[in-house]
Amino acid sequence: MTVHYIVSPGGALEGRVRVPGDKSISHRAVMLGSIADGITRVRGVLEAEDVLATLQAFRQMGVIIEGPTSGRLTIHGVGKDGLNAPSAPLYLGNSGTSMRLLCGLLAGQPFDSVLTGDASLSRRPMRRVTEPLRQMGAKLETTPEGTAPIRVFGGQTLQGIDYRMPIASAQVKSALLLAGLYASGETWVEEPAPTRDHTERMLSGFGYAVWRAGRRIGLAGGGRLHGCDLDVPADISSAAFFLVGASIATGSEVLLEHVGVNPTRTGVLEILRRMGARIEVLNLRQVGGEPVADLKVAYAPLRGIRIPEDLVPLAIDEFPVLFIAAACAEGETILTGAEELRLKESDRIQAMAEGLQTLGIDAQPTSDGMIVRGGKLTGGEVDSHGDHRIAMAFAIAALRAQDTVEIKDCANVNTSFPGFADLARQLGLKIEVVQRG
Ligand code: S3P
Repeated sequence: MTVHYIVSPGGALEGRVRVPGDKSISHRAVMLGSIADGITRVRGVLEAEDVLATLQAFRQMGVIIEGPTSGRLTIHGVGKDGLNAPSAPLYLGNSGTSMRLLCGLLAGQPFDSVLTGDASLSRRPMRRVTEPLRQMGAKLETTPEGTAPIRVFGGQTLQGIDYRMPIASAQVKSALLLAGLYASGETWVEEPAPTRDHTERMLSGFGYAVWRAGRRIGLAGGGRLHGCDLDVPADISSAAFFLVGASIATGSEVLLEHVGVNPTRTGVLEILRRMGARIEVLNLRQVGGEPVADLKVAYAPLRGIRIPEDLVPLAIDEFPVLFIAAACAEGETILTGAEELRLKESDRIQAMAEGLQTLGIDAQPTSDGMIVRGGKLTGGEVDSHGDHRIAMAFAIAALRAQDTVEIKDCANVNTSFPGFADLARQLGLKIEVVQRG
């Protein structure tokens, strides 16, 4: 049995909602809370499969974690050197963040571990973390293709490195900084373009000094983390579905509450604004080291744009739904410099181009992006390729379709946005969830 969405065409989105907690911040809260000294209390944590995979991994390494109940966790940190050897492989499901960050954290442990994942995660490239970690003295083994399962051999002595990342990746940066906690000397990572900086911010919140010098981020090994209280904002990557939905459906007005608006994540706001969207950032405030705001969005006619390449890493997870915005815009939208999209939970360039073409849109995939000409969306059956964000993006597309949109293989929406269909229905999307044999 697989889960399908059947979304009737038309309608508008109206109301106020708080979408679930930020996935990136939730992973880091569990990881850093686990290796901190003392108790870490977390509010607003994302209770979705990806984060639960991280949580389960730390439980397997002996960390006592109470919850999640209503978004609350109490993590009894075991200290930097207090993790125990897991007695079985750590299964990380669909979660690239769990796997890549754990490679760094586990490289510095005295014990061996094995990291596995589902079919999608087992296809994703891991050399981007294993190569620089080896330069630090870590010992890791992947398949000959550089994919999971990954065996991490403990008991190695790590040395800090000065690493210039060939790709703009927060996961690679974070893996190296986590390994750097266990390395001798300083670890520096230089990013080719700014990427999400939640690891750096949260390390500081745990009392660990992190330095930034232009595009370089560094820390010294050997320090300790001190348990703290964390408040996870709503995930702007989940809010993005409603930012686009309200922008494309006439008569819509939505208020998205308590959304994380860290400037390394707000590319979606900038891109939508350039397309003509009406988005207001209200009540901007700081919550536990991260900027948070309420986002008010109302329908506005969109126009196609050439998306500036420097915005790509700042909106990397939002392109599936941004392609839907492009399909509903007047004229052509051109995305370049986004080859990383081919390496996400699915090949998001291919999957989105295919689905848009099925719905009657002129969408031309390129090696590093897509050219989308706005037009009329018909209806039809599209395949999410088991990718949560593709599934949700096409559900939103139905707001502007002429006929029903059926989306195949939507169970993985639970990896990042449990309750998506209910929340979307509450706002006005005519979405039904069915099981198909
Ligand atoms: C993430 C970083 C991004 C993003 C992913 C979460 C993180 O990946 O696509 O969903 O939490 O660090 P890359 O760093 O590989 O671009």
